[in-house]
Amino acid sequence: MSIADIRRDYNLAGLRRSDLDPDPIALFRRWFAQAAGERQGGKLRGAAIRVYKSLLGLGSAERIDVNAATLATVDVEGHPSARVVLLKGVDERGFIFFTNYDSRKGREIAGNPNVALVFYWPDQERQVTIAGAATKIPRAESEAYFKSRPRGSRLAAWASHQSEAIENREVLESHWRELEAKYPGDEVPMPPNWGGFVIAPVRIEFWQGRPSRLHDRFRYAKQANGTWKIERLSP
Ligand SMILES: Cc1cc2nc3c(=O)[nH]c(=O)nc-3n(C[C@H](O)[C@H](O)[C@H](O)COP(=O)(O)O)c2cc1C
Repeated sequence: MSIADIRRDYNLAGLRRSDLDPDPIALFRRWFAQAAGERQGGKLRGAAIRVYKSLLGLGSAERIDVNAATLATVDVEGHPSARVVLLKGVDERGFIFFTNYDSRKGREIAGNPNVALVFYWPDQERQVTIAGAATKIPRAESEAYFKSRPRGSRLAAWASHQSEAIENREVLESHWRELEAKYPGDEVPMPPNWGGFVIAPVRIEFWQGRPSRLHDRFRYAKQANGTWKIERLSP
């Protein structure tokens, strides 16, 4: 099959103004819970999704990585770069992820905090795009999360000088072995250049696929007084 022939129609649901919440974080939480399979948004929607998925031959595996999102940053010359990160929290401040502050993304955010974050949940036929400024979360908060990670992930945060060129895999593995010897127990401190960012949203757009590409889109834009202006956008 040619790539150009790959397409599908979106039939699952619509998004009406009456479905929205005045608070986009509340709507994001609802959509996230539905993507994670935690909440089906009513019996009818749950049944419709099950029938629809079985028609498409989809199992439950598509729930993997529901918290994965594409993060776009720009360097000081305005050149963009993008990569996937895992959302680790959302609260009134915004969207939280963790990374190496010296990585390419970390350096780009230091030079220009404006970023975009995109979630795509294919089985929900939904996309959420977020724009805002990223700032480091308090170190104590990063530490609390770091402690909750498996030991291997904590050692990896030390072993990987993220985004730097390395000669070969052996460099990485020998560094890892040194660190395993250095921190034999469960006490692995958090590296000083590792931690979380929170993206404070100024724009959040909710996209629901519809038949014949007449998709539903609603954009929330933060206004000077802190309230959200909601507009329907043409697909
Ligand atoms: C599913 C998935 C989840 C990922 N989660 C993270 C993450 O939470 N934090 C992170 O720093 N990198 C994560 N990565 C790796 C990044 O995509 C990227 O390779 C890395 O952060 C280096 O990016 P940079 O060089 O642009 O800074 C993830 C990759 C995938 C595919």
